[in-house]
Amino acid sequence: MNFVLTILLSFLSILLSFLILKRRKNGNDNKMNKNEKKLPPGRMGLPWIGETLEFYKAQRRNQLFEEFVQPRKATHGNIFKTMLMGSPTVVVSGAAANRFFLSNEFKLVVSSWPSTSVQLMGPNSIMEKQGDHHRYIRTIIASTLNSTGLEALVPKICSCVEQHLKMHWQGKDVVSLFGSAKMLTFTIVLECLLGVKAESGMLEMFERVLEGVFALPVALPWSKFYRAKRARLEIERMVTNIVRKKRKEIEGNIIDAEEGVLLPHLVAGLIRGEISEIEVIDNVVLLVFAAHDTTSFAIAMVCRMLAHHPTCHSHVLQEHMDMMHGKRAGEALTLEDIKKMKYTWQVTRESMRLFPPIFGSFRKTIVDIEYEGFIIPKGWKVFWTTYGTHYDAEYFNDPLRFDPSRFEEAVPCPPYVYLPFGGGPRVCAGYQLAKLNILIFVHFMVTLYDWSLVYPDEAITTDPLPFPCHGMPINVSPKSL
Ligand code: HEM
Repeated sequence: MNFVLTILLSFLSILLSFLILKRRKNGNDNKMNKNEKKLPPGRMGLPWIGETLEFYKAQRRNQLFEEFVQPRKATHGNIFKTMLMGSPTVVVSGAAANRFFLSNEFKLVVSSWPSTSVQLMGPNSIMEKQGDHHRYIRTIIASTLNSTGLEALVPKICSCVEQHLKMHWQGKDVVSLFGSAKMLTFTIVLECLLGVKAESGMLEMFERVLEGVFALPVALPWSKFYRAKRARLEIERMVTNIVRKKRKEIEGNIIDAEEGVLLPHLVAGLIRGEISEIEVIDNVVLLVFAAHDTTSFAIAMVCRMLAHHPTCHSHVLQEHMDMMHGKRAGEALTLEDIKKMKYTWQVTRESMRLFPPIFGSFRKTIVDIEYEGFIIPKGWKVFWTTYGTHYDAEYFNDPLRFDPSRFEEAVPCPPYVYLPFGGGPRVCAGYQLAKLNILIFVHFMVTLYDWSLVYPDEAITTDPLPFPCHGMPINVSPKSL
């Protein structure tokens, strides 16, 4: 009897456990269904790969917005889900979404770069920092680019541009404008911002690293990532020597922190124990990357727009001639002169609206986020894009038309609509330097040279940042005024 009872009780307890487990599973399934229902619409595609191949293909053709974002936006709306490089990702568009995700940096989301980018730029750079560490580096950059620093930078940048044009343009009929702008902006960030002499071969080393930033994380000898890692090691050795030399000079009172020069400020922080040597090195490397390819593409696109719009070019030239009027021959430009280049800045802003050097960037959610009735689970990526507002007729009438008057001072742009420099706590830290670079280059180019594009409709490609396919060759001749 006991035996039968034991069997019966065992059977009942197994049945009961089974029912409880089933009920729990159903409960979980229901919960998941509820959450899944709340996930934004979109296609996750194949496991891990998801829609990565479509994303890369569109990116290489510089059609990320037109071929990847736009069609999905048309089907699903301003927020949709996808799977990119193994990460479930939500792509968002529109000023409200930009404001929500960019301004909630550190609270709801954090900046999130692919592991290849982090390894190559350095895990100790500002882009990986949060809280006090992030604030500390931003404060040092901001104190270098305050109004006294910018005033000191103007003549230095002018002299870099003049020397560059003399060495690389004088006596030439055809110049690669993009290549030239790249070399120049590289020299400016090293010599004017950091106070380091640009030696031959350095630019090529940095370029090799950049090629691996969005490559597949495969470190085999023939891969882009492997070559990039080797170049990064060379750069690290070189920057380490520079930092140690600066440290000795500061400790021996041979040099002082100079207005507009960043490296001594970072090294002074190192001496005071506020920042480590590897943090200084990674931030120097990051700043060179952040500064030169972005600015050179912006310069190239301003010149392309000036070549496509002769009336606009005449207007810009007139502004610079007026500004020069009343100055002695050879008298250097000042920050006050730069402030007078209002129309040139409008042209620049409109060019960057149509051709933003940075397409957008990724964030990662640090908590479950409820947005617009959808759940974005913790750990998912969020991808915001500049094109999402720049190319939207809701914000810019006839958005594909080039019209610098959109940026007249009397017509303020609503917040989080125009974002070539990003927004929120991670808004570009070098915006003022980029502005000086572009305006000073355009000043010398329009006042000293006549030029025309060799390929007026040269295609733009992306790897990982946008660039003109043929390097934007231009026919140049000195201006006969
Ligand atoms: C036309 C030129 C430039 C463009 C279009 C540009 C664009 C941007 C954008 C969109 C971001 C934000 C990225 C994000 O939200 O994840 C950013 C960040 C940054 N930029 Fe620029 N940038 C330019 C030039 C420069 C220059 C010249 C410097 C050098 C000082 C610089 C230094 C930085 C730094 C340090 C950050 C990171 C800020 C942070 O994480 O707090 N940029 N830039």
